Formats: sequence, structure tokens, C-alpha cells
Amino acid sequence: PPLGEMLNLFDFELVASKTLERTAWYYYSSAADDEITMRENHRAYQRIFFRPRVLVNVSKVDTTAKFFGRKSTLPIYITATALARLGHPDGEIVLTRAAAKEGIPQMLSTLASCSVDEVCDAKTPEQDIWLQVYVNADRQVTREFIQNAEKRGVCGFFVTVDAPQLGRREKDMRGKYDEDLADVQGDEDEDADRSQGAARAISSFIDPALSWKDIPFLRKCTKKPLVIKGVQRWEDVLKAAKAGFDGAVISNHGGRQLEFAPPPVEILAESMYHLRKAGLHRKFEVYVDGGIRRGTDVMKALCLGARGVGIGRPFLYAMSTYGEEGVRRAIQLLNDEIIMNMRLLGVRSLDELGPSLLDVRSRAPV
Ligand code: FNR
Repeated sequence: PPLGEMLNLFDFELVASKTLERTAWYYYSSAADDEITMRENHRAYQRIFFRPRVLVNVSKVDTTAKFFGRKSTLPIYITATALARLGHPDGEIVLTRAAAKEGIPQMLSTLASCSVDEVCDAKTPEQDIWLQVYVNADRQVTREFIQNAEKRGVCGFFVTVDAPQLGRREKDMRGKYDEDLADVQGDEDEDADRSQGAARAISSFIDPALSWKDIPFLRKCTKKPLVIKGVQRWEDVLKAAKAGFDGAVISNHGGRQLEFAPPPVEILAESMYHLRKAGLHRKFEVYVDGGIRRGTDVMKALCLGARGVGIGRPFLYAMSTYGEEGVRRAIQLLNDEIIMNMRLLGVRSLDELGPSLLDVRSRAPV
């Protein structure tokens, strides 16, 4: 169908499910075990209703967000997803170009199919590129990875901590490792277990020994914002704030890691409560990702205290089906939804969003 017929983020998923190469579709869409956490990531938003405010002059609304002191046109960023070349021959750079034109940050994966250099060559001077970091068993490799990226203009580092081992993604395992992936990765890792799908084949160098003891080392690698990605309980959010991180992404890796990990939106409120109690809520920025598909999901996360939200699969699907224009349209659809939602909620800027606009008691069944 023509791009103009894509009316929301789910439409891209539907087209992708019908048209993508199977390897790409399985790798992108899969999640752990029975995919309960992936499903609940989105459904949790459907259990929250609003308490909108009426008769507010909403002729002008401002969707601008501030992430680590830098502006984004929307409270949204493209989160890290590996192997974009499975879905599009130009890979992550397609996302980079779309992000530049729409004015939102892009987080690049350690396991991206384009290198940091390729992405930094493609980016505009004003554009914010963040780097997701999988910490290598050889810490010097990680130090150089961060420091080279910083020299190239990367302006934030997100250390993923929810993957000491890879979750079991059966759809992807059935898809198997095949030629498509060998093309993308250059077939360097001879030891990778090829019976286990794209994800397992590329994960063999993530160090399961990573612990809180490594945080001072990571902190010393950069003066740029250092953010922990993949915290799943408020105690760890608080611990991260005290350990020297600048922020946290509450995330369960899009339901791809621990099955029955909690939906991120459900631990936002308690995380903010404990940060506030400890006096850390101003300098420590909290983000969420997982299952965010609608402007209303974004509003709800922000009402509960998130500074911004990451979106993964929908942008991969838009990229794989319609390229750069598809990703731009996906961002524009979110932009339109957010503006409409702000007006209907009675808020003119994002800092007017707060828990009083939510009715968490209703908990409507879905
Ligand atoms: C991911 N995610 C991820 N996270 C990370 O830190 N490093 C990575 O390399 C990847 N790779 C990756 C590949 C694919 C195909 C997916 C779908 C996800 C997790 C990602 O950053 C994010 O947490 C989720 O994708 C958010 O959920 P939604 O928006 O996809 O529901």
C-alpha cells in the first residue's frame, strides 16, 4: 500500500509481517519464550486512563523535550536495535537520516550493521547520536569503543545491563542463521552457534561478568552522559543514580530477555517516588522503552515521570518497508498524535504533564 495509507505504527508492523525476508521478520519481531512480556509492555499502557483537563487555551502546544540538556523536537528517540541491514541494504543510516530530518535522537547499537564511523559520517552537525554499549570481556575494547565514538561526536552512552545472556527467542531460532546474516556481519565469528538464530550468533562477546563494580571504570571512560539501559526494579534505578549514572532507561529489551519481566510503565511511578525521596529526581533522568506505539502511550509515560521514551521495532518495520520516508512518516504520525493528545488533555507543554492527569485506579481490563 502507498505510504500515505499508513495511519499508525501498527500499520507498518502489518506490512512488514507480510513483506519482510523471513530472517529479518523473525529477528525483529521475536521476543522471549511465550512473548508475554512483549505483549504486556504495550498492554500495560491500555490499563491506564486519563483525567483530562478542559477549557485550557491550547491554540499553541509545544512538543519540545530536553534530553541531557539538549533539545529534541519530540519526547521520543529511536532506540538501539541491532542488524538494520537485515531489513534495508543501507542499514542504520536510514534511521540516522530520518532522525536528522525530524529532529530526534538516534541510539546506535553496539551490534549495529553500520559502524559508528559510518553513522557519524552520515549525521548532520546538530544531530544527536547516542551509542548503546555492550561491555566486552576485554574492558580496554570497551574503553576505546566509547572514546573513539566520543571523538566522532556521539553525545551519550547507554550501557545495556539486561542481557548477561540472551533470552530464548524461538521464532528467531526457527528462522536459523542463514546467508542473509553472514552478508550483514561479514561472517567473522566462527564460534557463533549457528543453530540458534540471528541473535545468539552475534551475542557471544557480551560479558556476563559485568557487575556494579565495573561502573566506576565506565564512568571514567567519558564525561558525556552515561545511562544505564535495562533496569527493571526501582531499587536498581536508585542504585544507578547513586553509582554515578546520569540516567536510566527502564526497559526489558522489548520483552526479548527475561520472560515475565515487568512492563516498564508499571515501575515508573515507584522509581520516581524513590528518586524524589532521595532528592535525586532533578539530576537523574528516567526514560522508558518497550511497547510504545501511540501518542497516548508517550503521554502516560511522561505523566508518570519519564523524560522521554524509546521506540524500537516500529522504526525497524517502517525502515524495512518504506525506507527513510517510512521512518519519517512514523515519526510524523507520532508527532500528530502527541499534539492532538496534548490539546485534548489540556496541556501546552510537556512539563505540564503529571500524575494528576492519570486515573490509575480504573485499571480497565483489556
Ligand atoms: C533490540 N534491543 C536492543 N537493545 C540493546 O541495548 N542493544 C541491542 O543491540 C538491541 N537490539 C535489538 C534488536 C531488535 C530487533 C529489537 C526489537 C530490540 C532492545 C531495544 O533497544 C528496546 O529496548 C526495545 O526494542 C523496545 O521495545 P519496542 O519499542 O521494540 O517494543
